[in-house]
Amino acid sequence: MDAQLSTLQTEALAAIAAAADETAVEQARVKYLGQQGAITALSKGMKDVSKDDKPRIGKLLNDVRTAVTAALDERKTALLAAADAAALAGVDATLPGTPSGFAGRGTLHPITQLLDRTISIFRRMGFALADGPDIETEWHCFDALNTPADHPARNEQDTFYMPDGRLLRTHTSTVQIRTMEKAAPPVRIIAPGAAYRRDEIDATHLAQFTQMEGLYVDEGVSVADLKGTLEFFFRELFGNDAKFRFRPHFFPFTEPSYEVDIKTSMLGSSDRWLEIAGCGMVDPAVLEAVNTKRKDRAFDPEKYTGFAFGFGLDRLAMIMSGTPDIRYFTNSDQRFLGQF
Ligand code: DAH
Repeated sequence: MDAQLSTLQTEALAAIAAAADETAVEQARVKYLGQQGAITALSKGMKDVSKDDKPRIGKLLNDVRTAVTAALDERKTALLAAADAAALAGVDATLPGTPSGFAGRGTLHPITQLLDRTISIFRRMGFALADGPDIETEWHCFDALNTPADHPARNEQDTFYMPDGRLLRTHTSTVQIRTMEKAAPPVRIIAPGAAYRRDEIDATHLAQFTQMEGLYVDEGVSVADLKGTLEFFFRELFGNDAKFRFRPHFFPFTEPSYEVDIKTSMLGSSDRWLEIAGCGMVDPAVLEAVNTKRKDRAFDPEKYTGFAFGFGLDRLAMIMSGTPDIRYFTNSDQRFLGQF
């Protein structure tokens, strides 16, 4: 039995070492350790071994079984590793990878990025977010904002009217009215959103664009507050070397009214002023229109004053990114959008 065991071990280990693939290893396992296997057959012969020899032969048998099992596992692991190595043989792991970024990872649209920044700057000054519908009544868009029936902005050539007389809002100033209908002073809001005009689409005009409206009504609000607020905001965006000018202007819903011009190196030629916003002190007629609608005197112009402002985010984004044509923001060209 001793000799038989040692021959069997030598033979089994040689067979395992020669196994060329996983199937061959499995066949060897069956041949030696399976139910009909050679080692199994020898253990069945243990019952014929003399009582004196049993412990020694038993131990020997166990040693052989352990050695063969270990050899089988080892061979299998080695074969798997070799298969992996073969699969990787054609791969150069030192080659540069495929960059993720342009075309791979998405980014927020440049207008959305500017919108987020704008909101966070005004939030720091205590402005809350407000909104209103894109499809508006003439009253919210014009009448309540002190815009007379014969004003050119109301012209059918300039505005999109619905069959029922409602219209696509031509500015976000509608949210001034919507907010004051519901809240009492003090009111301090910004309202970003879409505005629509029947403009010929060209490098500086879209039929739908993005505006940001602002309104602050409280006791004792002055032009100084208006200038301070807007200058702080625009300096946050354009930096401290930008220059601003408040130029007297006319808007039906503010009195006095101004247009804000900027001069910045971002505009290329350093000598140019560009108009970037409209603003002014809320006209008492606007507060009275709101009072009439509310049927109270919550916005009594004898007690409260306010300022309002509005600007186009597309225009600001064009200046900040040096984009020459506003249409780039809407035509989904990856070569353009991928830069942001
Ligand atoms: N609504 C104006 C426009 O679309 C912009 C504007 C001007 C808004 C003056 C205001 C303001 O709130 O006070 O051109």
